[in-house]
Amino acid sequence: MAQLNISFTGAGRVAGALCNELYKAGFVIDLIVSESEKSSRLLANTCKALCSTNLKFPDSTDIIIVAVPDNRIISVLNTLKCAPDTLVVHTSGSTGIEVFPENIKRKGILYPLQTFSRGRKIIFKDLPFFIESSDNQSSDILKDLAESVGGKVYFTDSEHRRLIHLSAVFASNFTNHMLTLGKELTSRSGFTFDVMKPLIEETISKAMDLDPENSQTGPAIRNDHNTIEKHLELLSFSPELKRIYSEITRSITEHYKKQ
Ligand SMILES: NC(=O)c1ccc[n+]([C@@H]2O[C@H](COP(=O)([O-])OP(=O)(O)OC[C@H]3O[C@@H](n4cnc5c(N)ncnc54)[C@H](OP(=O)(O)O)[C@@H]3O)[C@@H](O)[C@H]2O)c1
Repeated sequence: MAQLNISFTGAGRVAGALCNELYKAGFVIDLIVSESEKSSRLLANTCKALCSTNLKFPDSTDIIIVAVPDNRIISVLNTLKCAPDTLVVHTSGSTGIEVFPENIKRKGILYPLQTFSRGRKIIFKDLPFFIESSDNQSSDILKDLAESVGGKVYFTDSEHRRLIHLSAVFASNFTNHMLTLGKELTSRSGFTFDVMKPLIEETISKAMDLDPENSQTGPAIRNDHNTIEKHLELLSFSPELKRIYSEITRSITEHYKKQ
């Protein structure tokens, strides 16, 4: 792959992880722009880049990766200044390609299907990247870029990427919230979250091996009304948890009734 220079807008979770991987893979990182100088300076120091709070990019930059919160993407794209042939991409699953202003001719999306948190090392090998772009040449560049850090590339349009993002909310964000609620309930029993870990590990591992729809256990799929009533009684301290328990139980029951 030809030597490419990359700049970032954003120095947060996604920008930080991508920047580290791309720098390790041999790309030159030109400039990191963030809202506060502190975060851009910290990231820039790790990859010999310049840092700034000004969205003006050097002509040497071939690709600008915009990794800012979804509600900032449009204003950043409308403000940034770069050479006319610079490829500008955002990393959002739920934001379409139509948000790019007219003056940005080469544009795209590089959406990594992963959950990024500060201080957590991400394994990029086989990480799915969902790519969309304005032209074939940009698609090829983004494909090479994703593959150079070990990623697996899927080409898709904005509508299908939004569905992938929605699936990720169910599979990852909602699962994690259930773990949070499970942890809180565990602590009411006087035990720590550690006692749950083998169960959680087997739940995820079994869903991967057998598929989740073949792995469901528990009172809802058994239609065990007696146990369900006892659980609802135990949850009388929290109308919110009772509501969630009833709704998920109903969803499981309905799901397996259909089959
Ligand atoms: N987090 C994930 O798991 C994940 C996964 C896949 C895709 N994404 C997508 O990736 C994008 C970035 O998410 P993130 O989680 O990395 O966000 P984040 O950790 O909150 O970081 C956002 C960064 O944007 C900077 N920023 C905000 N407004 C700016 C502006 N006007 N000009 C320049 N920089 C600005 C912030 O600067 P400061 O540092 O100065 O505050 C910060 O560095 C989003 O589109 C998100 O949907 C996220």
